[in-house]
Amino acid sequence: MTISDEKIGILTGGGDCPGINAVIRAIVRKGINKYDYSMMGIRNGYKGLLDKDWYNLDLASVSGILNKGGTILGTSRTNPGNVSGGYEKAFKNMKELGLNALIAIGGEDTLGVANKLTEKGFPVVGVPKTIDNDLYATDLTFGFDTAINIVMEAIDRLHSTAESHHRVMVVEVMGRNAGWIAVYGGLAGGADAILIPEEPFDIEGVCRIIRNRQSRGKNFSIIVVAEGAVSKDLGKCIICDEVDEFGHARFRGVGEYLADEIKKKTGFDTRATILGHIQRGGAPTAFDRVLGTRFGVAAIDLVAEKKFGLMVSLKGNKVVSVSLREAISKLKTVDSEIYDISKIFFE
Ligand code: F6P
Repeated sequence: MTISDEKIGILTGGGDCPGINAVIRAIVRKGINKYDYSMMGIRNGYKGLLDKDWYNLDLASVSGILNKGGTILGTSRTNPGNVSGGYEKAFKNMKELGLNALIAIGGEDTLGVANKLTEKGFPVVGVPKTIDNDLYATDLTFGFDTAINIVMEAIDRLHSTAESHHRVMVVEVMGRNAGWIAVYGGLAGGADAILIPEEPFDIEGVCRIIRNRQSRGKNFSIIVVAEGAVSKDLGKCIICDEVDEFGHARFRGVGEYLADEIKKKTGFDTRATILGHIQRGGAPTAFDRVLGTRFGVAAIDLVAEKKFGLMVSLKGNKVVSVSLREAISKLKTVDSEIYDISKIFFE
């Protein structure tokens, strides 16, 4: 076997999610064992590229990480486009490090930067990552399955206490622009209403569902709401007072708002539970470990084939590749077919 002198960098950007370590492990294992590459871990997303914060990823450094949540590389929402001379610095540092290619694991923002690096001439392969499952050009992202299982379990637990206290429980889940977690988590947990950013909700409509249930002898209800859901009556009912480096607002408030309105309008004792980052933490499900592993293997294969400017993607049950430009061209919002199925149970 000839010894390759190629050096491949890996970074993880944006919000973490369960399954990232499975991707890193697969890239490093195949990169070293099959292609004989040197693998470099860049810490904290693009921040590490700008700060020259990297280390050698050997086989030992990816041992025992498959079942671990988060990312061993650390992450950030640093945008080189926001830093003066950021892209020039990134290029200079990658040259200094002797990188031949970069694998960027991230969502629309991280992959947007990956696309810019590609357009500026650096060889990059992307791996789609977000618990929100809103990345266009892939049927699924890893982390999503873990998140919806956490939501399902939370709803199961809330059911018993809601029933005992005859309460309405509002469960706020992640999803700024797309309600995938709300719809899948809510469907799996048997939610009585699911409110998503794609369809502004009508508070009277939600109260009607609760009253209808009461007339059938059901003195409790579970309402799932995505953090980015918007009230028809109010327009926005969320506080977005913080913006990240990519210009995305941090949403909060819709769960409490809904709980207050439901209580006022129906008289039902109502509580809000904000699942927040619980949805992103902890061990990945088997599905996410396998999907992450498949994505990692496909990403390092693309590097070996010198196919750059691409993102690995799941289509049906096949891992394929799509152009980074296509992948970031728009968001994948909830399709009406699955939302209509969940509505059958809002009666
Ligand atoms: O992008 C994934 C995500 O989990 C969103 O669902 C959520 O709105 C956001 O990240 C939260 O970001 P942060 O971890 O910066 O609070």
